[in-house]
Amino acid sequence: MMARPRPVRPDENQQWTLAERPVGREVRKSDFKLVSNAVPDLAANELLIRTLYLSVAPVMRDYMLDGAGFEKPLAIGAVMRGRGVGIVIESRNANYAPGDIVQGKLGWQAYSISDGSPYYMMYKIQQRIAPLSTGIGVLGVTGFTSYLGLVDVGRFKPGDAVLVSGAAGGVGSSVGQVARSLGAGRIIGIAGSDEKCQLLVDKLGYDAAINYRTQDLGSHFSELMPNGFDVFFDNVGGTTLDTALLHMNKHARISLCGRISEYINNAEQPYALRNYQYIHKRYATLQAFFIYLLEADFPRAEAAMAAMIAKGHLTWTEDVL
Ligand SMILES: NC(=O)c1ccc[n+]([C@@H]2O[C@H](COP(=O)([O-])OP(=O)(O)OC[C@H]3O[C@@H](n4cnc5c(N)ncnc54)[C@H](OP(=O)(O)O)[C@@H]3O)[C@@H](O)[C@H]2O)c1
Repeated sequence: MMARPRPVRPDENQQWTLAERPVGREVRKSDFKLVSNAVPDLAANELLIRTLYLSVAPVMRDYMLDGAGFEKPLAIGAVMRGRGVGIVIESRNANYAPGDIVQGKLGWQAYSISDGSPYYMMYKIQQRIAPLSTGIGVLGVTGFTSYLGLVDVGRFKPGDAVLVSGAAGGVGSSVGQVARSLGAGRIIGIAGSDEKCQLLVDKLGYDAAINYRTQDLGSHFSELMPNGFDVFFDNVGGTTLDTALLHMNKHARISLCGRISEYINNAEQPYALRNYQYIHKRYATLQAFFIYLLEADFPRAEAAMAAMIAKGHLTWTEDVL
């Protein structure tokens, strides 16, 4: 029997750091700076991870600002925060061994060091049914957001009429399929182009889709869901949420996942809901969530979604650069 070759320890680590904050504007390439640093020796309890995949997500814009968000703002010069999939190549932590595949807060760097504490949100990937890259997609926090946001936060029941905004994004593209797999009634998606709307209906489990850039949301809600929706999985906020409030069935649940339409202007012009009285009139619930607070439920979400993949109920698209 031959011993497994020891992984070679890297001499240097390439890291993308934060150079400028995108205050009131979109993110630019010059907001980041590429640097190279030595990889330090591991202290007790630490593990060294080689990055395999990194993800890009809307919340990262929030990390780059200097305000109160879900997490502590990043200092200028700090390694850009972000999740990824990696392989453990050295470990002084009893819970991790070389060869383990993890997804967690690796940061935008080739190698990362973690002490395995809750901050890093390390999750050992259990499933082997789909490629490891899905650990930052459909079988990672993005997918867990779709599943837990619909099932737990939205208290989905078979037969429910489901409305999803941002339906063609990373999160929304799984919500329709999960709802379909679990026996939803009508599933309506909202997206920003005809191509995306076509994809929603052809491949992603939606019965119909509305292009919010060219079509009137209110009249299409009335036509497509005459009794209103039971669950609204909202990624967008702003006028989309406000219009949806007029189209709720009684006891509707709104799972408030994101407010992407408000991210850039939020500080100066926070959106004020006009139709909130309908939350009362329809005995509805509006429940926000932050996926990192649902960590204990990740294994359940992963197992459920892996089973949907095995049954051919759940597919995904990836854009790997
Ligand atoms: N609560 C949580 O813990 C949690 C976890 C993960 C993500 N999220 C949130 O969920 C949302 C979706 O995340 P994701 O990872 O799916 O993002 P994503 O893959 O980047 O998709 C975002 C999509 O939102 C749409 N969009 C952008 N600006 C918009 C606007 N002004 N109005 C309407 N739609 C707009 C765009 O699609 P179109 O071309 O269709 O406009 C965009 O592709 C974000 O708000 C994110 O912050 C929350």
